[in-house]
Amino acid sequence: MKLTAWAKLNLTLDVLRQREDGYHDLQMVMQTVTLADTLNLEPGKEGIHVRTNFRFLPEDDRNLAMIAAKRFFAETKLPPLPLNISIQKQIPVCAGLAGGSTDAAAVLRGLNEMTGLGLSMAELQKIGEGIGSDVPYCIAGGTALAEGRGERLTPLPPLPRCYIVLCRPPFSISTPKLFGQIRCRKNRRRPDTAGVLAALEAQDLQGVARRMYNVFEDIFPPRRQAEITDIKNKMIACGALGACMSGTGPTVFGLFERLDDAKAAKVSLNVYYQRVFLTETV
Ligand code: C5P
Repeated sequence: MKLTAWAKLNLTLDVLRQREDGYHDLQMVMQTVTLADTLNLEPGKEGIHVRTNFRFLPEDDRNLAMIAAKRFFAETKLPPLPLNISIQKQIPVCAGLAGGSTDAAAVLRGLNEMTGLGLSMAELQKIGEGIGSDVPYCIAGGTALAEGRGERLTPLPPLPRCYIVLCRPPFSISTPKLFGQIRCRKNRRRPDTAGVLAALEAQDLQGVARRMYNVFEDIFPPRRQAEITDIKNKMIACGALGACMSGTGPTVFGLFERLDDAKAAKVSLNVYYQRVFLTETV
C-alpha cells in the first residue's frame, strides 16, 4: 500500500498559556502543501520494521511511524500484522513541517484501510493524539484552525490557490527549549489570528499573507533571527505576498500569486541554501 504524507505549514502560530500537564495551549492556522514523504506498507514475515532513505533517522521504537503502527494495534486490540514500512523522505526533518507527525498519520490511515477496521477520522485522531500534538491535524490535512495542544481542530475555508516556496536553513533549535523560553517572554508580538480567519472567509490571499506571523520567530537567538528575517526579505523582494516561519522552525515560507515570482525566489535562495522547495497547497 502506497501512501502520501504531506508537510504542514503554520500560517499563524500563537502560544496562549502553559497548561498543568506541561504542554501549552496553542492557536494555529495550519495548511498542508504538496511537499510530501511517500510510505510503503507491506505485509512482512515477523514483527514491524521501518526503513527510511535518510540515514540519520532512527528506524527503531523512536521512529514516529513505528510508534504509530504499534499504537494502532495496541489501541484497537487487533493482533499486530507483521509489517514492513518503508519511508521515502522528502520533507526536511526537525524543520517545523511536521515531517515525523505526517508519517505517523499516514501509517494510521493506511492501517485503518489495510485491516478494514473502518475507524472514523475522529477515532484515528484520538489514537494520533498520543503520538504527537500535530498528528491529529496531519490525519485530516487541508486548512484548519488547531487549538488546545493542537488536537482541537476546526476546518477552515481553503487557502486560495497560490505557489509556496519553502526554505530550510541549516540549523535546528529544540522544540521543548523554545517552548521553555517563550514562557519567560512578556509583551510578545502576536499574530492576528481573527484577521487571518476573516481573510480566509473572504478568500483574500493578500489579507492572509499580510497577517501571517509565528511567535517563535522572536524567540530565536539574534543571529538566527537575522537569518530568518533575511530569508523572508529575499522572498518579499521576489514578489511574495507575505512570508513566515513554520512551527518551531527553522523553515521559512513565502506565498506567491505568480509562478514566475516563486521560481525566481527559489533560484535566488538556492544561491545560499540547498534545501529550497517550490510547492502548492493540497
Ligand atoms: O506533542 P509533541 O511530541 O509534538 O511535542 C513536542 C514538545 O513540544 C513537547 O514535549 C513540549 O515541550 C512542546 N509542546 C508544548 N505544547 C504543545 C505542543 C508541544 O509545550 N501544545
